[in-house]
Amino acid sequence: MSTAPTPDAAELASQVSGTPYGTLPPASPMASRKPISLPRLLEMRSRGEKITMLTAYDATFAAVADAAGVECILVGDSLGMVCQGLHSTVGVSLEDMRYHTESVSRGIRRAQGTAWLIADLPFGTYQESKEQAFRSASVLMQAGAHMIKLEGGGWTTEVVHFLVERGIPVCAHLGLTPQTVHALGGYRVQGKSDAAAEVLKQQAHALEDAGASMLVLEMVPADLSAELTRALQHCATIGIGAGKDTAGQVLVLHDMLGVNLGKMPKFVRNFMADGGSIRGAMQAYVAAVKDGSFPVNALHAW
Ligand code: KIV
Repeated sequence: MSTAPTPDAAELASQVSGTPYGTLPPASPMASRKPISLPRLLEMRSRGEKITMLTAYDATFAAVADAAGVECILVGDSLGMVCQGLHSTVGVSLEDMRYHTESVSRGIRRAQGTAWLIADLPFGTYQESKEQAFRSASVLMQAGAHMIKLEGGGWTTEVVHFLVERGIPVCAHLGLTPQTVHALGGYRVQGKSDAAAEVLKQQAHALEDAGASMLVLEMVPADLSAELTRALQHCATIGIGAGKDTAGQVLVLHDMLGVNLGKMPKFVRNFMADGGSIRGAMQAYVAAVKDGSFPVNALHAW
């Protein structure tokens, strides 16, 4: 009986022309940077190097963002609007977040596996109790997240403490908190009056004391977020519509690529114009955040 010769690995590799359907590489190439860890991010904050963050919702975009040098990838519940066509983030479920977090995590590992992965706890999965928050956070951590993000101040302090004590790094989120958009009366700048600014400052300090190591400030006056960034000792502020002086910046991927048929928020810059390709746009974003040319307070902030 004659048996066909078994092709060796090199022969098999030569038969593969490329990776179709999104072109993730078949296995991790050599990483061009060390993996991003929480100590590294906090060290960047202390040194004054700006931290870059973008949202991503699937494996391929996450892989490209990782390769483009973005340090933090956020699986935001903005996926409700961006991917699911919802009017707000309120309808996003924990299962939706788990699915997208797992996809993004696979994409990062298949690229070079260096980006820090943050996932949003969606509405209704942490408000009831700290125990509920832990159960929900566990689902996202087991899907590959390194850190979870949750919105709000005051009542969230106890939740943050409970999660951090149990080994879950937490990014807090103050200012415009989209899950409570109905209570806030729309997507508007927060912390404008002296009284509102005072509450925001107290909440930010309490969240830092509870162990939050990052804090997203969304649509907060630039002066207020600059003051908070200086005042917080261990917690890195990440701005979106919060001016140039935060420790880092975040944008929603589709916004910064100009993939948005509606009116673009004031705080967004379309980086496709600079970059020419998706990877180029992400690299232009990283470069502009690092060298301080984005955002510009007069154009992108209040
Ligand atoms: O859900 C999201 O994408 C976010 C960012 C806007 C910070 O929370």
